[in-house]
Amino acid sequence: MTETTIFLGIESSCDDTAAAIVRRHATGEAEILSSVVEGQATLHAPFGGVVPEIAARAHAERLDYAVEAALREAGLGLRDLDGIAVTAGPGLIGGLLSGLMLAKGLAAATGLPLVAVNHLAGHALTPRLTDGIAYPYLMLLVSGGHCQFLAVEGPEDFRRLGSTIDDAPGEAFDKIAKLLGLPQPGGPHVEREAALGDAKRFRFPRPLLDRPGCDLSFSGLKTAVLRARDAIIAEKGGLMLQDRRDLCAGFQEAVASVLAEKTRRALELFPAPVLAVAGGVAANQAIRARLETVCDAAGARFLAPPLRLCTDNGAMIAWAGIERFLSGAEDRSALIARSRWPLDESAAPMLGSGKRGAKA
Ligand code: KG4
Ligand code: ZN
Repeated sequence: MTETTIFLGIESSCDDTAAAIVRRHATGEAEILSSVVEGQATLHAPFGGVVPEIAARAHAERLDYAVEAALREAGLGLRDLDGIAVTAGPGLIGGLLSGLMLAKGLAAATGLPLVAVNHLAGHALTPRLTDGIAYPYLMLLVSGGHCQFLAVEGPEDFRRLGSTIDDAPGEAFDKIAKLLGLPQPGGPHVEREAALGDAKRFRFPRPLLDRPGCDLSFSGLKTAVLRARDAIIAEKGGLMLQDRRDLCAGFQEAVASVLAEKTRRALELFPAPVLAVAGGVAANQAIRARLETVCDAAGARFLAPPLRLCTDNGAMIAWAGIERFLSGAEDRSALIARSRWPLDESAAPMLGSGKRGAKA
């Protein structure tokens, strides 16, 4: 491919309304011309989780502004684009439909090619957008809605090596924050408290370490923290600041140990030259440090894209759309929204559907 390719990417599968313009140069290098992300946190905050109806309505109201802003910031018009990519799943169906309707309308009006993108593929291909790494590589997706190890061998070639059988780790961080009276989203708050705590005071379980393979589980860990909290309250009549810090430290240590050991196994199963992470939990410094140690020992490079591209955004959708387009894909009006859409169709379905929608 010798030409430059410019795509608009539209993302509305959960609680971020996002649009971005990405250019792929003839050399294969990517350039993010603009990336607009409008979060809905304040709309959902009173309900303690994402409310699908509120999310869908907000996407429908804000998506066209996000697209306009993305074009304006890139200094381009619709006529400058080579195609439109849109998240078609997995996620909350109302939000997905809002994005799809806008994308179909724009494609019909302009005659531009339309490409459906799997949201998880967007995350999984991000290291190629940010660092131009070659296939194959190993991807660990750790967010509020996802947790899986993927062997990535091409733009549509994903093999799931393992995934959570219940909660995603970000969801666990959020629930721990809630039961310790910390604000949402809980991850950064739990990390801050954990830094001041004694990780050795509580020894929480390391779920599924006794089972071979790379599957993970986080819901039992949450129950263990709840029990420890209640035992302290029963004994002392309340929770002291240091108790909370120690609980956070013990919890984070358990999550980090499990992720590190499962990553070691995943690299054994699929000895890739690079392990890349994506998702909000990848922001956690303690977890990153453990994963880096595992990679060093396995002789793999550890790659963590900038956080704004690790979390939900339109640039990853535009890029995944470009990759699919260049490998011959085009979807047009047959495109449907899919609340569940596993990247690896051959892998057994996983249980569980978290507060951020179905996990695939
Ligand atoms: O990728 P993301 O922005 O959204 C989706 O889940 O799709 O991830 C958000 C999740 C939240 O559950 C949040 O608590 C968690 O990532 N998170 C963290 C940290 N920062 C965000 N978890 C642990 N440590 C952090 N520093
Ligand atoms: Zn996501």
